[in-house]
Amino acid sequence: MTIGKVGVLGCGLMGSGIAQVCAQAGHDTIVLEATEELLQRGLDRIGKFLQGSVDRGKLKASDRAAALSRLRGTVRAADMADRDLVIEAVTEDLAAKQALLGAVDAVCPPRTIFASNTSSLTIAQLAAATRRPGRFIGLHFFNPVPLMNLVEMAPTFLTEEDAIAEAAAFVASLDKTLIRTTDRTGFIVNRLLVPYILDAVRALESGAGSIADIDRAMVLGCGHPMGPLALLDLVGLDTTLSIAEVFFEEFREPRFAPPPLLKRMVLAGMCGRKTGRGFYDYGGTSPVPNDSLTRSA
Ligand code: 3HC
Repeated sequence: MTIGKVGVLGCGLMGSGIAQVCAQAGHDTIVLEATEELLQRGLDRIGKFLQGSVDRGKLKASDRAAALSRLRGTVRAADMADRDLVIEAVTEDLAAKQALLGAVDAVCPPRTIFASNTSSLTIAQLAAATRRPGRFIGLHFFNPVPLMNLVEMAPTFLTEEDAIAEAAAFVASLDKTLIRTTDRTGFIVNRLLVPYILDAVRALESGAGSIADIDRAMVLGCGHPMGPLALLDLVGLDTTLSIAEVFFEEFREPRFAPPPLLKRMVLAGMCGRKTGRGFYDYGGTSPVPNDSLTRSA
């Protein structure tokens, strides 16, 4: 089977990016959100990114229009009924993912492949919410999806070979690089990245340096495209907290434990760029380090 019709569950940061790259790659794409308001916000994000690409001279206006013509939003799970592939990209909450996967599974034919973009949860456990564990796989994208070249593919011990081959061909159609990993918590990237960004919060808490200097250190000292605290703001502090909690539960190693400052910031509603405030304030023309955090840490 060739994958042509794609459904994306969730139109948040990751879901909107995934839906965008699917539509840009020529797939007929439907993206599902819980409410019209959330859906509109996600579709606006896609429109803005594509317009940014046109403004930068990286995309023809006609290609932008063609991508948008292949993309449609919905709030009805029943609209997923004719999809060849459904990619789940909702919030990192096991119960929420299971409930939605079960509902969409009920309307899709047996041939439809299901994939999850989870950052931390066990793929086999998500697959168990459906009647198709043999056609369920992990496909993990990176934020911002249109700019990041990698997809981690994580089959479970139940995923069938033809579903693995079809998922791999689909990733190739997006012009992204695929690496194959296994259904182990964090796959490769997050297993290495998460302790690093959590350690950056601990470095800040312990007074090793200011927010700006911790980020500058890793950009200029190690050649990273952005510092760990700016990256936390990009990924989302709430998302990172959920990931750290799952990792700590799985590995029971202190390096995966969420630092108190991270927890407090999420409780205060400071989730990073998505809420306009995190380690930096995003209200002005350029991000300003939130230095009051260290005073109260
Ligand atoms: N359309 C097309 N291209 C665009 C664009 C758009 N709308 N917006 C930006 N770009 C391009 C720019 O033109 C530029 O390309 P060039 O180098 O060829 O000129 C490139 O993207 C960089 O753009 P900027 O310099 O404007 O942007 P920044 O430097 O601020 O940020 C970044 C770009 C890609 C976010 C970069 O900083 C980066 O790679 N950061 C690290 C991101 C990362 O690590 N992501 C992974 C997070 S972990 C994850 O997602 C897993 C999850 O499970 C937690």
